[in-house]
Amino acid sequence: MSHAPVNIADLATPLKFAYWVPNVSGGLVVSKIEQRTDWSFEYNKKLAQIAENSGFEYALTQTRYAASYGADQQHEATSFSLALLGATERLKVIAAVHPGMWHPGVLAKFMITADHLSNGRAAVNIVSGWLKDEFVNFGLDWLEHDERYVRTEEFIRVLRGLWTEQDFSQAGKYYNINEFTLKPAPIDVPGRPHPEIFFGGNSTAAQGTAGRVADWYFSNGRTLEGYSENVNGVLAAAAESGRKPRFGLNGFVIARDTEKEARDTLREVVEKAHRPAVEGFAAAVKEAGASTKDGKGMWADSSYEDLIQYNDGFKTQLIGTPEQIATRIVEYKKRGVNLLLTGYLHFQEETAAFGQDVMPIVRELEADLARKHGTELDTSLLPVTNFEKVSL
Ligand SMILES: Cc1cc2nc3c(=O)[nH]c(=O)nc-3n(C[C@H](O)[C@H](O)[C@H](O)COP(=O)(O)O)c2cc1C
Repeated sequence: MSHAPVNIADLATPLKFAYWVPNVSGGLVVSKIEQRTDWSFEYNKKLAQIAENSGFEYALTQTRYAASYGADQQHEATSFSLALLGATERLKVIAAVHPGMWHPGVLAKFMITADHLSNGRAAVNIVSGWLKDEFVNFGLDWLEHDERYVRTEEFIRVLRGLWTEQDFSQAGKYYNINEFTLKPAPIDVPGRPHPEIFFGGNSTAAQGTAGRVADWYFSNGRTLEGYSENVNGVLAAAAESGRKPRFGLNGFVIARDTEKEARDTLREVVEKAHRPAVEGFAAAVKEAGASTKDGKGMWADSSYEDLIQYNDGFKTQLIGTPEQIATRIVEYKKRGVNLLLTGYLHFQEETAAFGQDVMPIVRELEADLARKHGTELDTSLLPVTNFEKVSL
């Protein structure tokens, strides 16, 4: 574990933390274990406030139009994100969006308004999609896997073009934009040329697209080795295009006083899993990376247990005491992670506890790591925390 290639790590910059917005019902694991998490706006509003005061810089909203993995009710991602931006002061909210569902010009315009309403805190996560029924039953084209990424890449180029250029034109296979200028432009935030563009996907095609056009590459939960494989794939494509994306990783956190308690909780999640829903999900995700020529990609090598957390969050192994989890997180930092996306059983309580108990240890460990490699952790970049304002 200690032989990580720290040369790709940004040792001076503190890790950033995000949480999944539970905007769909059923929590983040497909299990009948108790989950004190709710998909309502009231719950989410309070959660967003707790999270931003506990040191989280980002929240990620999911996009889902039809039930899957037991998420029978779903709030729409862009409108929900906008409401969360209105309820917070510093949190950046990333709305997931499917290119096949939106025209990029309409999204570009929507996001500019969201950016103005939130003083530069709006962001998108462009996801190519895997739930075929959503597209087919809406009467939309369902493109073959790699072709979805051709469309996604064009989509992102249009978004960025409309956000940064006047009289923007782009002729492509999926979109044709003719001398368009959007006014107003996004908010001018120093160091941010436009709302940040996140991108989620694990397959070879996804890595190539992310390297060429994304600001941030998001991976599903991965082992240390698996994560390095993804990062290398994205970096190779990015180098060819002269780009430098940043890296996010999903992980499901079970932090408890003892390792045994944490492991017992995971065991209970698995024992109480909703088997038909997990098996239905396993069948649906065959449309993802497993359908490609090299068979690589999200969920391609996931076991039944892995799929109980539908973004492979157990694979990241953030399960144990705060100390163990912080140590593991810093191992991922060595392998290139800049942003850790987290999920929990009980979101309000556990984001607060994560901020209080895990983040301070991460900060100590990353300061040590930076020093060991002849640099300093830039503490001026640490997010503001305000634990007095956190009330559960
Ligand atoms: C962090 C993250 C968030 C995602 N969010 C969504 C989402 O909200 N809705 C969705 O349909 N897919 C979502 N996806 C899945 C992607 O759309 C895509 O289908 C998936 O990454 C499989 O791609 P691959 O087979 O190319 O690896 C997400 C993926 C990641 C990594």
